[in-house]
Amino acid sequence: MSHLPYPHLARDAHQALMLDGYPLSQIADTFGTPTYAYSSAAITQAYQSLTAAFGDRKHQICYAVKANGNLAILALLARLGAGFDIVSGGELARVLKAGGVPGKIVFSGVGKRADEIRYALSVGVGCLNVESQAELARISAIAKDMNLIAPISLRVNPDVDAKTHPYISTGLKDNKFGVPIEQAPDLYRQAARDPHLRIVGIDCHIGSQLIDVRPFAAAAERVLALLDLLVLEGIELHHLDLGGGLGIAYTDEHPPTAADWVSTVVGVIDRHPIARRLPIMLEPGRFLVGPSGVLLSRVEYLKPHKAEGKNFAIIDAAMNDLMRPALYGSVMAIVAVKPDATQPTTTWEIVGPVCETGDFLGHARELALKEGDTVAILGAGAYGFSMASNYNTRGRPAEVLIDSGQAHLIRTRETVESLWANECLAP
Ligand code: LLP
Repeated sequence: MSHLPYPHLARDAHQALMLDGYPLSQIADTFGTPTYAYSSAAITQAYQSLTAAFGDRKHQICYAVKANGNLAILALLARLGAGFDIVSGGELARVLKAGGVPGKIVFSGVGKRADEIRYALSVGVGCLNVESQAELARISAIAKDMNLIAPISLRVNPDVDAKTHPYISTGLKDNKFGVPIEQAPDLYRQAARDPHLRIVGIDCHIGSQLIDVRPFAAAAERVLALLDLLVLEGIELHHLDLGGGLGIAYTDEHPPTAADWVSTVVGVIDRHPIARRLPIMLEPGRFLVGPSGVLLSRVEYLKPHKAEGKNFAIIDAAMNDLMRPALYGSVMAIVAVKPDATQPTTTWEIVGPVCETGDFLGHARELALKEGDTVAILGAGAYGFSMASNYNTRGRPAEVLIDSGQAHLIRTRETVESLWANECLAP
């Protein structure tokens, strides 16, 4: 693809790729490859586009840490005023380490362990987003034991089709997530009677990488219908959390803008006489960090005219560094960092060194490549590093944050010693 779908990426007069004006070839030379590079300005702008769209409307953005949990990125978002959506004790520890405010944290996830609930309550997280009756009972027992009152919300499953990849669709009744919306009134009644629980809100999250606002609006409508039932019973809510899922452009998608998302949701909610007074919460992950990042990788070998005439470009990044193409068949743009006009443009299978046929980063990409060239995989700021593994005993990549014209190393490349640090030889 010739155009660059992200505003923070541009080419200089020599066609060299820059992130926020910083030459990406320099990052590859200084820090090696594979390396993730992120733009602090892109993250800041994405965050501010959402808060600006809300204007004076009461709201809280809780960044979904799972998208990218690097401490420097969490600290940046915390400074901007973000709250956080976490799914584990580990993510909670990261957020606190990065300076996040406990009261602005929501704790989601279907399988919270007792020690994680205890930890969350002890630091005073803003809300536990409860996903089942069994979890509600567990939270109540732990709160009783700790002699405190747990702030809770029920994650309802609105049975709305988010029209996204089945692996990242979460709002259908067949998915493991949330409480079926018909069962929610009963659970709210149970919570309202429980002296160790304080109902603070309601939440839902229907899926990720949505590129249409309509399922989002439909989920909000269902949440409001439930709110009406609860009001009749005298059960009060103090926030409405519509989850994350705001999609981004990877190649030629045309996702809604921040203003489109916010105006659609506010449009639905503010028609409701009670809901209009409640803060709206969103839990975006990908929207805030996805466009900010690239994965830089070098071409190790070219194998033209392999099986069925396919041309393979073997790069030094692999499925363990960026799982999305292998796991979901995601198509992410791949471009040359310094295109070489002397090379012919060829259709390449972009693959990594891992010993799996599924180890590909891109199929049939038109690129002019030679050994040693650097390529950038775009839109890699979300669910890139955070899903990386050490498969094939490969250390995970370095991470660099470009901020005010400087490139800061925010995570060093893993060494092989760090990979076996937890292992012991049997006696
Ligand atoms: N809130 C909850 C409860 C979630 O489960 C998620 C994502 C989010 C918020 C943030 O969703 P986002 O705004 O980033 O779409 N690994 C997949 C995405 C998995 C999303 C899981 N849950 C990918 O690479 O596409």
